[in-house]
Amino acid sequence: MARRWKSAAIAIAVLTAAAQAPVAAASVPIPRMPPGFHWGVSTAGFQAEGSPPDSNWRRYVDGRADSVKDPYANAVDFRHRYAEDIALAKSMGVTTFRMSVEWPRIEPRPGALDQDALAYYDDVVREIKAAGMTPMITLTHFTHPGWIADRGGWTNPGTVESWLAFTDLVVRRYAGLGVLWVTFNEPTVYRTFEERNGKLGVFQSGAMMDNLVAAHRRGYDLIHRLDPGAMVTSNLAVKPPPLQWFDDSSFVDKVRGKLDFVGIDYYYGASLDNLSVIHAAKDEFWKVAPQPDGIYYALRTYQRKFPGLPLYVVENGMPSDDGKPRADGYTRSDHLRDHLYWVQRALADGVRVIGYNYWSITDNYEWGSYRSRFGLYTVDALTDPALTRRPTDAVATYRAAIAANGVPGGYLPKRRPAWCAFADLRTCFGRLP
Ligand code: BGC
Repeated sequence: MARRWKSAAIAIAVLTAAAQAPVAAASVPIPRMPPGFHWGVSTAGFQAEGSPPDSNWRRYVDGRADSVKDPYANAVDFRHRYAEDIALAKSMGVTTFRMSVEWPRIEPRPGALDQDALAYYDDVVREIKAAGMTPMITLTHFTHPGWIADRGGWTNPGTVESWLAFTDLVVRRYAGLGVLWVTFNEPTVYRTFEERNGKLGVFQSGAMMDNLVAAHRRGYDLIHRLDPGAMVTSNLAVKPPPLQWFDDSSFVDKVRGKLDFVGIDYYYGASLDNLSVIHAAKDEFWKVAPQPDGIYYALRTYQRKFPGLPLYVVENGMPSDDGKPRADGYTRSDHLRDHLYWVQRALADGVRVIGYNYWSITDNYEWGSYRSRFGLYTVDALTDPALTRRPTDAVATYRAAIAANGVPGGYLPKRRPAWCAFADLRTCFGRLP
């Protein structure tokens, strides 16, 4: 009996070792990014601007909701330093700059427009264009005005009409400038934040999602009417299945036909040899071990799901713990190059990817804390009154990758592919599909 157990154990060990053998990444010739590829950086209003007007998030911060660990201070004052950040992006060779317009800033009271806020956004868009970049504008990045919160937020169907009026105003203003429009940033994460902050009862989440779907669908038509030829999307947050299937069924599956490209935000994967994503549940994102090949599975999955549509990596980046190096020595540059490699690998397999945005150009307020830092430029938001933008190692790396239109053909990822990735169980047998 003992002998049988021993043989079984040896067989399992051998099979496991074989399965875990790294895939011969170098044997696959990878193309560079296609012509016209969008090399981007991302930022978002509430997280970066400072001086926040009344909004759902301003209230969570002021009320020190459970999810809030750090005070907001003045974020990284993008409101006054946008010209500097846009210039930093340009100096890396970035071609697309993603920002959000804050509905709470533009319309602080129902129907009352803040002209200074509009002039500020006009200038941001002007600077982006003057720098030769394409603006990617997110209409809603997790925030809505305080007066909308008072009316029940997105559980109130009337919010759809109010949001469409705001969208009408913004799109008219920037129509004809070649803007890439994002209606809602990560709708399912927006829902989760509202749940976590106590704004959604158990039976209200569905109503919020249905109203977001309705707003997106009508917003899509409206944007096309006002800005013909524009490209419109909503970016989804990639999660390990089965969470992904649930998320998809509540939003992206319902906006089929109302997307010009699929926006994909990829941060964390899960596999039998990497379950560290569990740390995300406690917002300890820097403890999650990066899984770069996960971006490849995500791109393949969504290309299969939306066969005719191009895909765009609207967000990807690496959290560090307050700017400290990772314990495993994996750097922001390694992370960036490895993910680009897997995007190029997806291209090699015929997936149509038209852009990649790094999240984010600078560190910013991570929805309750400054501890997770994602910036190409790091900023000590709580301790440096000058809010100096200091380059991380990844600035030079991104500049070189953009100049070369990707990582070189012979690049070997530093991190080996996952074993038994939840996103594709064929990897249990050591094979990439
Ligand atoms: C969000 C960003 C956030 C980033 C990193 C995405 O879910 O769109 O607002 O900062 O992930 O956590």
